[in-house]
Amino acid sequence: MSSTYDNPSATAPADTSPAVRLIQMVQGYQVTQVVGTVARLGLADRLITGPKSSAELTRATGADPDGLVRLLRAAATVGLITEAEPDRFGLTPLGACLATHAQPVSLRDFAIAVGAPGHWLPCGRMFDAVMNGRSATATALGMGLWDYYRENPEEGATFARAMGSLSASIAIDIAACYDVTRFSRIVDIGASQGILLASLLEAAPQATGTLFDRPEMITQARAVITARGLAERVELVGGDFLTEVPPGGDLYVLKSVLHDWDDDHAQRILANCHRAARPGSTLLVVEGVVPTEPSPLHLMNLLMLVQVGGRERTHEQHQALLEAAGYRLERVILPQPGAYPGWSLLEAHRR
Ligand SMILES: C[S@@+](CC[C@H](N)C(=O)[O-])C[C@H]1O[C@@H](n2cnc3c(N)ncnc32)[C@H](O)[C@@H]1O
Repeated sequence: MSSTYDNPSATAPADTSPAVRLIQMVQGYQVTQVVGTVARLGLADRLITGPKSSAELTRATGADPDGLVRLLRAAATVGLITEAEPDRFGLTPLGACLATHAQPVSLRDFAIAVGAPGHWLPCGRMFDAVMNGRSATATALGMGLWDYYRENPEEGATFARAMGSLSASIAIDIAACYDVTRFSRIVDIGASQGILLASLLEAAPQATGTLFDRPEMITQARAVITARGLAERVELVGGDFLTEVPPGGDLYVLKSVLHDWDDDHAQRILANCHRAARPGSTLLVVEGVVPTEPSPLHLMNLLMLVQVGGRERTHEQHQALLEAAGYRLERVILPQPGAYPGWSLLEAHRR
């Protein structure tokens, strides 16, 4: 069965009229929930061994039979599922990315987290955020995002695994373009589960590390660090990076952290890194560098406003923040063409 959505971002084929393309764009929210629901039901795991009937999948998932068939055909329409013969549903390469053990990285948790209330409900209030310039999360969820994830630990853990999946996918690229073998102590601030830190330590076998995140993240992080065989080399520290961060690193890493915060808060985080670090030590900021031309980073920039009151930054904005905190921006390494577009490496040195 051919897909009418050649592009999973729900854009229509190029010869479709503007009005039809716009209708599909407006209905793009459905695609997020189709992908998220396929992921929650574990359909990729169930189909990875071969096609199945809707009855088999109904038994396996406990879903409503009619609802499940509708989901499967919607998922076939957006390119996740095949129906090569009536009522024999299989997996496309796109859908296979949702399998729990997909290689090189599973996007199952990412799909679930983006469709879940903590992410989804604030996005429904984007208009408010654009009008008043503030995050919509307190109104949508009754509290800020990090408090919400602490109060809803299962969803918080899914979000952390989702971040870990994205980190895993770019950790390979980062290890290829940034030499960490010259460092002896790598401190990852806002490290979540520690997926990036683990990759950096694997690339720098002589180094030890410190994983720093909110206290409620530490149990989850310990499990990941232990499973990677790094328990002996990593100190796990819970705390608040708006107050202080652990001392002693010759490399500090901030990945996808500063963009969660407005300039005042980002400045506090950087000032705390500066206070903890020795002169001449390195700070590696892994973030987008917003261009002026159209880019997925502009969507992320808007999302950061809506969700957390943060922002993506241009080269000049990054530089100004770093300089004000006592760092000298030495170089910016852009990702390879085709890599996930949300990151660059900004290497700075503490004055
Ligand atoms: C967008 S996630 C990035 C996680 C990780 N660096 C990555 O890229 O996968 C932001 C991280 O900041 C952590 N965080 C938020 N507020 C914090 C605070 N006040 N102190 C320490 N960590 C915090 C969150 O728990 C989360 O792990």
